[in-house]
Amino acid sequence: AKTFNILVLPGDGIGPEIMAEAVKVLKVFETPERKFELRQELIGGCSIDAHGKPVTEEVKQAALDSDAVLFAAVGGPKWDNQRRGLDGPEGGLLQIRKAMDIYANLRPCCSTSPSASITKEFSPFKHEVIEGVDFVVVRENCGGAYFGRKVEEATYGDDGRMGLFRSRDPTSYTSIRRSGTAAQPPWPVISLDKANVLASSRLWRRVVDKTMAAEYPQVKLVHQLADSASLILATNPRSLNGVILADNTFGDMISDQAGSIVGTLGVLPSASLNGLPGDKTLKTRPYGLYEPTHGSAPTIAGQNIANPVAMILCVALMFRYSLSMEDEAQRVEDAVRKVLDSGIRTSDLGGKAGTKEVGDAIVSAL
Ligand code: NAD
Ligand code: IPM
Ligand code: MN
Repeated sequence: AKTFNILVLPGDGIGPEIMAEAVKVLKVFETPERKFELRQELIGGCSIDAHGKPVTEEVKQAALDSDAVLFAAVGGPKWDNQRRGLDGPEGGLLQIRKAMDIYANLRPCCSTSPSASITKEFSPFKHEVIEGVDFVVVRENCGGAYFGRKVEEATYGDDGRMGLFRSRDPTSYTSIRRSGTAAQPPWPVISLDKANVLASSRLWRRVVDKTMAAEYPQVKLVHQLADSASLILATNPRSLNGVILADNTFGDMISDQAGSIVGTLGVLPSASLNGLPGDKTLKTRPYGLYEPTHGSAPTIAGQNIANPVAMILCVALMFRYSLSMEDEAQRVEDAVRKVLDSGIRTSDLGGKAGTKEVGDAIVSAL
């Protein structure tokens, strides 16, 4: 029998509740030939409480030793005034992304995907505006302002990290390769930046131009200023169909904004990868960490009302990208679609069902 080692990191806030549902779904796919060995560990605020740091070296090593990582969410008001940056709860996630070098964060948003079968009724947008929306944000996940080194005292932010970029480290831009691979003609790559203002964005644009011309000359490349991209997402989102390539900061923002298309962040999963299966540029074995786009939603934690769909769709993405289980990935996505269409939904989608009921319904549908 084949055994997959999965590291399970529920984290804080709604994290443990939604992770419990994802694990239920995962277990449906155990057979005599296929076992999942789950190892659950602390990350984020709960790890600070237990170990004095948001992630231990042991947990980072466990991530590197696993076949895939399921991550729910970290952070909350309890830790907000204590420590920030890499030492705060959110730093646990940043550190593990860095340790795994999962530089490409894929955040799909599609008005016909299972994560959005609800959009017709629930999106705040008019149906004709969002019909046919289909893009994937490919966010650079291990560089940019998030990991800039401190070069002078007088920068924004009290830890001196804001506004600094790893501009001399070309590896921070390798996600560009990933976007070229994801783009299926006629999908263009739409690269977001602020090249009109930021030197770091001008570097970004140069690297994007060079890499795309050298490696993906057949893919249409469009440069779009990041601020106006936000407006386009709210007025004519279909015109962004394709791969939206963005640095860590702009990718974070545009992927949350994508939640407005489907009406809630509670249905948007993401995959953080260090390359595609079969990627010849890969120097290590493939790593994947699967996390919802949303956070720990502390105000709704512990009430069995959080939407588990984003976390459950992360299981599908894990099947697809890390475990070579494409059929099973589609089965999960179909089951989610069926359950949402049947009206079994949490309150963020106007429904009355609880977290567990939605998870149970998806398990039944499977
Ligand atoms: P959030 O994503 O937690 O919440 C934004 C809004 O979406 C809230 O109204 C929340 O109730 C709702 N929401 C999010 N997930 C939901 C779900 N599954 N079901 C129903 N509603 C859902 O963002 P925030 O409020 O800005 O941040 C809260 C905390 O989460 C902060 O500490 C932040 O640092 C952290 N955070 C963590 C991650 C992560 O772990 N990947 C991501 C974003 C934010
Ligand atoms: C996300 C989150 C994280 C980020 C935080 C929690 C570090 O907002 O995954 O989108 O900013 O990358
Ligand atoms: Mn975010």
